[in-house]
Amino acid sequence: MIVKEISFLNFRNLLGEKITSPGRLTVFEGDNGQGKTNIVEGIYLLTQPRSFRQSRLLDFVPWAYRNSSASVLTSVAATVVSGELERSIELRIEDSRRFLMVNGNPVSQAGSFLGQLTAVEFTPSSLEIVRGQPLTRRQFIDRIISQVDRGYFESLVRFHRSLSSANSIFSDVAKRKRVRREAEAELSPWLKIMSAEAVVLVKKRQEFIACLQGILSELQDHFSGDSRRETATLRYSSDFVKDGATLSVNEVASVFAVALEKGFVSGWSHVGIQRDDLEISLTIEGEVGAHLARLTASQGQARSIALGLKLAAAEFMKNSSGTSPIILLDDVDSELDYKRRRSLCEYLMGKDYQVFITTTSGAWVKEHKTDDMKFYRVERGRVFVQ
Ligand SMILES: Nc1ncnc2c1ncn2[C@@H]1O[C@H](COP(=O)(O)OP(=O)(O)OP(=O)(O)O)[C@@H](O)[C@H]1O
Ligand SMILES: [Mg+2]
Repeated sequence: MIVKEISFLNFRNLLGEKITSPGRLTVFEGDNGQGKTNIVEGIYLLTQPRSFRQSRLLDFVPWAYRNSSASVLTSVAATVVSGELERSIELRIEDSRRFLMVNGNPVSQAGSFLGQLTAVEFTPSSLEIVRGQPLTRRQFIDRIISQVDRGYFESLVRFHRSLSSANSIFSDVAKRKRVRREAEAELSPWLKIMSAEAVVLVKKRQEFIACLQGILSELQDHFSGDSRRETATLRYSSDFVKDGATLSVNEVASVFAVALEKGFVSGWSHVGIQRDDLEISLTIEGEVGAHLARLTASQGQARSIALGLKLAAAEFMKNSSGTSPIILLDDVDSELDYKRRRSLCEYLMGKDYQVFITTTSGAWVKEHKTDDMKFYRVERGRVFVQ
């Protein structure tokens, strides 16, 4: 996929900017607080309904208009080319409501917007995939697979809806608002849906992780160059995996049945894919053993693993959908040493992704300057070609 044009209207500090012909590799350079991340965030919002920042709709509206009585239109729009097809996609925010448009027509469900523009983003918070809670790793997995597999996204929605219905029954029993025997009967249809969907989801997550591992290992070979080799090993941990294989629907249903008692006492389901995790261990050439990256990786190592996972995810998306996602790299170079930055640049130049990079200093990319690169300077919400 290629983004041919992007425009911003009243989006954070970007009041009216148009980027008419981004390159295959586009760099937004500027001092802190100028609007670089806002640009990348805007593009990202055309791929997913939620921002990678914990933002609410109101946060996107320029501060100057917050208390304005007149209605203000906030919009991020892009022209996207995918194969032979060209389409326009737009996110509009008006009167605290969000509208998604494809070729000028409103699209009602967030799910229908998925896939119009696919992207893999790396931002400072991507480090949380390595350092943070299991939820962050599950979100990483879910967002990537959902972009290329609509069925996965729908299964996920059905699983979580059923889980929340089940949890409200568990909670009622724990608070003695409902009788246990009745509750068991009421839970039964929800657990049936959860068992069936869990098997679909866990299988796809496992396939995704196996695929990621293969690509990640190749990437790490590339990134270590002549330095000591760092190897990240991925393992999916789940209530529904035994000896590396996904349990059957009946087996999953039994796991739910065994955990019922605990659920009635605590008020929530103790098993399910909402507890799964992606374990990442790091082995360093010449050092003893493999260690959990979450606890032991250095800042640069953690950043390299997170970046490796994101780039591997882009390859996964390309292989499974036949279309290259765009890659958004926000502040990717901080904490990476010169060798790693150079390897990253060489890697990106050897691939066919369209890449958007933000940085406070783009010298490391300019060293490799080619005709299909474009450099912009970002200053106080304005974007200038360099
Ligand atoms: N709703 C808003 N209205 C106006 N300005 C906003 C809004 N939200 C954020 N900003 C401001 O936009 C400016 C640019 O933010 P952004 O995160 O894009 O900076 P940046 O160029 O990426 O900087 P850094 O290099 O520090 O990451 C900041 O001053 C920020 O406070
Ligand atoms: Mg920034």
